[in-house]
Amino acid sequence: MYRPKTARDRLILPLDVPTVDEARAVIDTLGDSVTFYKIGMQLQFAGGLAFAEELAKSGKQVFLDVKLLDIDNTIAKAVENVCRMGMTFMTLHAYPKAMRAAVVARGNNGLGLLGVTVLTSMDQPDLAEAGYATDVADLVAKRAVQAREAGMSGIVCSPLEASAMRKLVGDDMVLVTPGIRPRGADVGDQKRIMTPTDAIRAGSDYLVVGRPVLAADNPRLAADRIVEEIEQALA
Ligand code: C5P
Repeated sequence: MYRPKTARDRLILPLDVPTVDEARAVIDTLGDSVTFYKIGMQLQFAGGLAFAEELAKSGKQVFLDVKLLDIDNTIAKAVENVCRMGMTFMTLHAYPKAMRAAVVARGNNGLGLLGVTVLTSMDQPDLAEAGYATDVADLVAKRAVQAREAGMSGIVCSPLEASAMRKLVGDDMVLVTPGIRPRGADVGDQKRIMTPTDAIRAGSDYLVVGRPVLAADNPRLAADRIVEEIEQALA
């Protein structure tokens, strides 16, 4: 039920801007070229939650990237409220108890719950420093399976992990992958990247692509080209 309906719906544009006014300007520029937006912490702390609801009411799909983690009761109450906002996706850290609480609270609501397995900014020394005596890949795999067992709708992962994750969690969960760069695009601070074509072929359902669209001379054209590339990869 969370699978994308069209190639265009597979492109998720993160509104990584400081103000709602700037977010509105991005959306005006992109017009019909983008149907799905991600609202992260930066904008959430600047009126982005009310704006997320407005955007959903206007007919766009919205991914609320809140990365929740708290005690079960608090998670459940938060998810109950997000269920009233008309969001397509929201994220939580893939801790089993939190995921189970979220899934129960979501009930039959259409909200898609995505688990963040291990942040891609974390490497082995970071995990060790945080008290985890485990390999990054092992922890990603373990949490992906726990997300499926908890009844989550999907996971956020690196496109480089997508084909392994697809084998691990099967076809029922959606895979949402940031770290996408069309050939020739500026890499920026992303280290582990894939092209839209390769990410789709690896089993990604949704591609989160920010700066290659936002920083382009013609953002609409950049978005349309990514959608064309997705269409070709699916053909
Ligand atoms: O501009 P760019 O395409 O790098 O934006 C990627 C988006 O995906 C940003 O909103 C970033 O915070 C988010 N993200 C990521 N890597 C993750 C999780 C989220 O780049 N592991």
